[in-house]
Amino acid sequence: EQAEIGLIGLGVMGANLSLNIAEKGNKIAVFNRTPEVTKKFYADAGELQGQIIPCETLEQFVASIRPPRPIIIMIKAGDPVDQQMELLKPYLSNGDIMIDAGNANFRDTMRRFDNLKDSGLTFIGMGVSGGEEGARHGPSIMVGGTEESWKRVEKVLTSISAKFHGEPCVAWLGENGAGHFVKTIHNGIEYADMQMIAEIYGILRDGLGMSASEIGEVFGRWNAGRLNSYLIEISEKVLKATDPISGKPMVDVIVDAAGQKGTGKWSVIEAQNMGVAATAIEAAVAGRVLSSQRTERLAAEKLFGLPKASKPQDGMAFLADLENALLAAKIGAYAQGFAVMAAASKEFNWNLPMPIIAKIWRDGCIIRSQFLDEITSAFTKDPDVPNLIVTPAFADMVKETDGALRRIVSYATMSGLPVPALASALSYFDAYRRGRGTANLIQAQRDFFGAHGFDRLDGVDKHHGPWGSGLATLA
Ligand code: 6PG
Repeated sequence: EQAEIGLIGLGVMGANLSLNIAEKGNKIAVFNRTPEVTKKFYADAGELQGQIIPCETLEQFVASIRPPRPIIIMIKAGDPVDQQMELLKPYLSNGDIMIDAGNANFRDTMRRFDNLKDSGLTFIGMGVSGGEEGARHGPSIMVGGTEESWKRVEKVLTSISAKFHGEPCVAWLGENGAGHFVKTIHNGIEYADMQMIAEIYGILRDGLGMSASEIGEVFGRWNAGRLNSYLIEISEKVLKATDPISGKPMVDVIVDAAGQKGTGKWSVIEAQNMGVAATAIEAAVAGRVLSSQRTERLAAEKLFGLPKASKPQDGMAFLADLENALLAAKIGAYAQGFAVMAAASKEFNWNLPMPIIAKIWRDGCIIRSQFLDEITSAFTKDPDVPNLIVTPAFADMVKETDGALRRIVSYATMSGLPVPALASALSYFDAYRRGRGTANLIQAQRDFFGAHGFDRLDGVDKHHGPWGSGLATLA
């Protein structure tokens, strides 16, 4: 019996995904560049061995799969994917589908898709979220490619995906780069979410002087409320863990410099390209950048010292404010992420289905949460709304929580505690909901020094100064 699907690259993610596929009753052929890895994977597969065809050559691998062959490539993003595709191609035939399941830049995915256009082969860019655990037991899967190729893999992918109250967290989102683009924005939101949680942690640690495990308790309580989410849940666990070497809380021995592999940055670059304000995501990326300049920060602390953080008067009220502040800021970050996707949908002709994207993020992925179920309802009622913030449900939530965000950002600012993502979300909201902004001055300046022109509120057809002794006095 031939395999239903093939997978190349038995690293952590590839191995877990393969076991998931096999466990859900799909026969799978596997291949790894180093055959020893394949042998070990097979030997460790235990009772799932019957569902797995381990292959030592690409020829044998391809021949083991039922045509048209879907082949998942789960290797390091970038050049290695192109190289692997070239190695694979000579063995493939009409209709076969190469599926890149890594965190690819969607522009690479577009290029790979286009390059195969007239070859009879096709390409799927597939975002997979949920880390190791998700890959093994149920990730959220974002698929981009032709509808025909989606039909070929729909059954297998549905069987292995996470389920939210029985609904599979996988969907075909559009042609070519749609899946990888949506995964990139998922990660951008993930960055913002993580940064905001870290900023709240900073307030609790450096403002209130709480210990790691006390902060873990707070997050644990929040996880039972409206902030219920995977990231809050793991934050509690992480904060309560003890380092076996020093006996201290684990988080207290970890260097405060965060790495990044690119998806957050790409989210921001693409937002900028399309002219969408994604300030909370930008702040999160910049937060990681500054975090990594640790030597400079240590020197600057010596130079400037730290402002003294005042203890808030009413601890309980302050904690309630923090919880609401995080919710309000999250709304801003998600609204931005969805706005970027809406713009991309037009730009790249994808027709991205917002309610479905929210739906398949409700479980399996890193940003899974209660909150995403509420976003799903909001977009289902109003799929073409220009901004999540103005849907009735989220407008109510913002009205209820923006005061808390304001108080928390003020407190942090006065205490010298950095809250770039929380503050960006707040300013985003304040700018978005103000009918009369201040860009009239910018327009005047632009006209003054460069005769850039402006529109008048009264509609009078006069688009330049006079500016006194200025230059822009054209009619
Ligand atoms: C996921 C994660 C996962 C990974 C990213 C981000 O959805 O399962 O987003 O894909 O965490 O690679 O990693 P960095 O934080 O290193 O950029």
